[in-house]
Amino acid sequence: MTATGQARRPLIVADSMTAGYELERERKLLTALEGVSLTVHEGEFLVLVGPSGCGKTTFINVIAGLVKPWAGTVTFDGKPIDGPGEDRSMVFQDYAIMPWRTVEHNIQLPFELRPHNFSKAEVAEKVQDIIEDVGLVGFEKSFPYELSGGMRQRVGLARAMVTQPKVLLADEPFGAVDAMTREVLQAQLEALVMNAGQTVVFITHSIDEAIALGDRIAVISNRPGKVREIVEVDMERPRLAEGEITSHPRYGELREHLWNLVKDEALGAQDAHHDDSETTGDPRLDRLSTSPATTMDPGI
Ligand SMILES: Nc1ncnc2c1ncn2[C@@H]1O[C@H](COP(=O)(O)OP(=O)(O)O)[C@@H](O)[C@H]1O
Ligand SMILES: [Mg+2]
Repeated sequence: MTATGQARRPLIVADSMTAGYELERERKLLTALEGVSLTVHEGEFLVLVGPSGCGKTTFINVIAGLVKPWAGTVTFDGKPIDGPGEDRSMVFQDYAIMPWRTVEHNIQLPFELRPHNFSKAEVAEKVQDIIEDVGLVGFEKSFPYELSGGMRQRVGLARAMVTQPKVLLADEPFGAVDAMTREVLQAQLEALVMNAGQTVVFITHSIDEAIALGDRIAVISNRPGKVREIVEVDMERPRLAEGEITSHPRYGELREHLWNLVKDEALGAQDAHHDDSETTGDPRLDRLSTSPATTMDPGI
């Protein structure tokens, strides 16, 4: 399998999408993303990089159906995204697993939360299969406090993948684990995703991680975020199974190019005025004036 060059079906299509937040206390609108057009193809591993606060998490939350765009459209499989769905699963940096549940009970949670037609035995089999895939065999009955950070994140990954969602949304999932564990988890994710043909949207702060995992890397400009450039990672897979990816002839060139782009944006973010993109006088603000949060603001 080659990483790029295949004609693929568009799965997630953002078209001139603008999204942000209503800041009730300040009575302002904060534009997080502005005019974002980006297509994620079926089976593609798309990585988002960009300075802190540029709207990466917002973008993933729009795809997850948790944040509604103010303008433009985002479609999933040809239909506008209207709330969360089992076709899209999230993995979070802070694992978000339940401390009072064992590994296997954490992983089976999605089946408890949503209606499905699987028997108890079928659910148990799916849970056991994914436990094997992520390398947690022997820890089924362990509680999260008994696990390392890397193992907790394996639980998070397994819980997201156990329902075989079409899309995996990952928000800096390996940001909190040590460098060596991170490499192991990256290799596992690559294998898992190649196997299942999953579509992935993955946020990272690390350019090395972006090159290791991405078919394409979208560099987001500082807030309000736009797509600054899309970089194709023309390196075959598996990239992480053996040998050092850093010795690949393309690695250095890609890294330098991405580094320059991201550095440029990060420096731009430092220079930018804080309230550049905040809007006042927008009709949406009228709604805020009646909100109790505004009138109760103690003003400190
Ligand atoms: N729930 C929220 N309410 C208000 N502002 C938010 C909220 N979430 C994010 N923001 C703001 O939106 C901007 C983009 O945030 P985010 O999407 O989290 O960026 P990134 O993930 O790239 O660091 C930031 O200025 C952030 O402070
Ligand atoms: Mg974020």
